[in-house]
Amino acid sequence: MSAVLDAGTAAGAGSVGAISVAMPLPQKSIATEVAPTAAASPVAIVLLGTGVVGGALLKLLNTPAAVGVRLVGAANSRRQQTAAAQLASRGLREQLNREGDPRDNASLLAALDASGMAQRVIVDATASAALAARHAEWLSRGYHVVTANKALAGGELPGWRALQAAIACGGRYGDSATVGAGLPVLSTLRRLRRCGDSLLTLEGVFSGSLSWLFNQYDGSRPFSELLREARRLGYTEPDPRSDLSGDDVARKLLIIARNAGFALGSDEVVVESLVPVALRALDAESFLARMEELDAPLAARHAEATSRGHVLRFLARLNQRGLARVGLAEVPLTHPAARLHGTDNQFALSTTRYNTQPLVIQGPGAGPEITAQALLGDVLALG
Ligand SMILES: NC(=O)c1ccc[n+]([C@@H]2O[C@H](COP(=O)([O-])OP(=O)(O)OC[C@H]3O[C@@H](n4cnc5c(N)ncnc54)[C@H](OP(=O)(O)O)[C@@H]3O)[C@@H](O)[C@H]2O)c1
Repeated sequence: MSAVLDAGTAAGAGSVGAISVAMPLPQKSIATEVAPTAAASPVAIVLLGTGVVGGALLKLLNTPAAVGVRLVGAANSRRQQTAAAQLASRGLREQLNREGDPRDNASLLAALDASGMAQRVIVDATASAALAARHAEWLSRGYHVVTANKALAGGELPGWRALQAAIACGGRYGDSATVGAGLPVLSTLRRLRRCGDSLLTLEGVFSGSLSWLFNQYDGSRPFSELLREARRLGYTEPDPRSDLSGDDVARKLLIIARNAGFALGSDEVVVESLVPVALRALDAESFLARMEELDAPLAARHAEATSRGHVLRFLARLNQRGLARVGLAEVPLTHPAARLHGTDNQFALSTTRYNTQPLVIQGPGAGPEITAQALLGDVLALG
């Protein structure tokens, strides 16, 4: 049997990095024993991005869990706010869509400095490569960075190396939200490494939308119909090619592999896109109108897999020689990925000590509330 650390039971483990099988808490203790945990010392934060995840974080900041965390600035791509009265407003996100100061990172950093707090944190809840490119510089200037943005750690290798250099000089980088929406993947991996264990192979389903699509796809409905439903349910990006291209999964694979000591360049991951070449350059509207063109090739792959008693899953794989691949794979029904539900993510880690059966981390791997919680958890860990 594999050791399984899942999101449903991790609360009972006491530490997210725990490796042993976590025991569920007795029912009554969930309400009576889990107290809100405030940061040990006050923390000042600025929030970059007030979209789906940033908006959920703003809500969390208004709960007792965030006592000791002071929001001193917030920004979307066009406007920002540093005035205390506006920042305290429950309608801050909507307000920023209408009014605020023009975007200027320097005045947000000045607001952090003016807070007088020892812990000054920039929370990046955007997907902006331009902002991610500043993370290492911010760390080297004494700010901490907590991020859901994968563009630096999962981007080009020189960016990753600059990040590691800044961390080595004392900067603290909260990256739990970049992989599995906060499932304890990176923390577990780092804990294993501190104990002298090494990752040998990695395999799993790293995308909530692709997990849902292939958990549902049994050939009875065209793939494009399922894709439309997934989009309606908010499981995919507005332009589903962002999910179907496999690029986001590749970024997550790079982040995990690099954290495990494999210095992989982004061009070293072989990515199989599910988007046919003819549909790649279209504008979003034209793509949405032609999604049926996905159906025939996927139906053929599905029929082949079924004839062998297998199912299709969109897998990320890293083998012992550091070869990384992201794409559609056939797996037998006994494979752990064949037994996923909903938008579950799954990360199977084989290591020098978990070598007969992998350590499997599994659970919901997308969603604004859990992603925002991962950001808050990383902020609180700095206090
Ligand atoms: N949604 C999830 O379940 C999930 C899970 C795990 C990780 N993530 C990651 O979390 C990040 C945010 O995702 P999301 O779903 O919240 O995206 P989203 O709804 O599109 O929100 C992105 C936000 O970033 C803002 N933004 C873009 N460039 C900016 C800049 N230069 N300065 C300040 N703000 C800027 C946007 O501003 P405007 O409003 O002006 O456009 C928007 O408010 C992404 O990196 C995503 O991959 C998301």
